[in-house]
Amino acid sequence: MDRRTFLKGGGVITVAVLGGGVWRAYDHGVFSTGHGPAYEPWKDWRTASGNGPLALVRAAILAASPHNTQPWLFKVSNSAIELYIDTTRNVGPLDPYLREEHIGMGCALENLMQAAAANGYQAAITFLPGNLLSTQSPKLLARVDLAAGIQERSELYDAIPNRHTNRGLYIPHEALPSEFISTLNGLVGQEPNVKIYLFQDQVEREKIVNISSAANSEIYSDPSVVRASDRWIRVDWRQVQKFRDGLTIDAFGLPPFKTAIVKIMPLWMLIWAASHGPKNAYSNLMLSAPLIGIIAVRDRYDQEQCLHAGRIWQRAHLLATARDLAGRPCNEAVEMIDYEKAHERPALRAALLGEIIGDAAWQPTFLFYMGYPTLAAHASPRRPVENVVV
Ligand SMILES: Cc1cc2nc3c(=O)[nH]c(=O)nc-3n(C[C@H](O)[C@H](O)[C@H](O)COP(=O)(O)O)c2cc1C
Repeated sequence: MDRRTFLKGGGVITVAVLGGGVWRAYDHGVFSTGHGPAYEPWKDWRTASGNGPLALVRAAILAASPHNTQPWLFKVSNSAIELYIDTTRNVGPLDPYLREEHIGMGCALENLMQAAAANGYQAAITFLPGNLLSTQSPKLLARVDLAAGIQERSELYDAIPNRHTNRGLYIPHEALPSEFISTLNGLVGQEPNVKIYLFQDQVEREKIVNISSAANSEIYSDPSVVRASDRWIRVDWRQVQKFRDGLTIDAFGLPPFKTAIVKIMPLWMLIWAASHGPKNAYSNLMLSAPLIGIIAVRDRYDQEQCLHAGRIWQRAHLLATARDLAGRPCNEAVEMIDYEKAHERPALRAALLGEIIGDAAWQPTFLFYMGYPTLAAHASPRRPVENVVV
């Protein structure tokens, strides 16, 4: 939202906040949502100088990643782009095998491939084999060879700058168009190791919501998870502009007035408010969406399959964006699968999610929900291309 709209809609904040409050509001980015260097990559991704393959990297960095860690590095030449994972950019015990970071790399790869076609390249991917359980050092994951091709601009490519994770409430009971559901079902195409499951039935959705909500409470009751996760929470506007990554208050999905209040809250009050929120808030958010989806693979810890899963999520979210729908990942249940494995506990969550999809040949690796938004989602910060090209 720009400053003028804010002042018109919620100007009362400036009256309500006494003394240095107005200054605090400016200082904390209340009037600057989506502005500043951290948000430039969303604006100049098609126009910035440096043509050729760099244009593909500019699209890639606008992809989703866990906690907005942006774990990507790119080695660029005129004929190829290599994708490396920077394993130091991680969320700790929430993702002990870096499975989610690898999925984020798949998201970037999908944007890159959409941009390759739109920029007239014929692009061929070579995936490097690997298993997440064996090594976690920074490594090359894939190489995209580029040759001259036919320029093809898709609706997914055009949706790249508008795709944002939407954590607000969705419009309940507003079913999604059947044409969208069948297109979503067909997104996986010929890829043999990825499958997408879609749930619209209320009873089935409630089961998934209950599993996710319980997983959410359990995983965030571990202080080491909270500590590692908090590393990526950017409440200070100067930090947002400096680090250009992580989860910001603008991305919490709150209405504008609440967003402004939260931005000017002292940190201790924010922490208190976060732990005293309404009961069932997460379940209610999830249930407001008429569709829950599960992306499954044959082997959750296979490197290449993680990248494929990420490509499918990115593609699905771009499709939803192109059709004016909103989407949000909701991965706590799968994170608990990793957590139980890492702590050598019985695989309770793998069993519960396995029951939901009802086919032991497929392993859930990514959960999401979609629907019509009640509020527009904001962009999250991005590091510039210069920081991620090696
Ligand atoms: C593998 C993966 C897991 C994610 N899990 C969650 C999640 O459980 N809850 C959530 O709100 N967002 C989740 N996200 C969304 C990221 O937080 C989001 O992509 C990132 O903050 C960047 O914001 P953007 O998608 O709006 O560009 C996930 C993203 C990825 C790629």
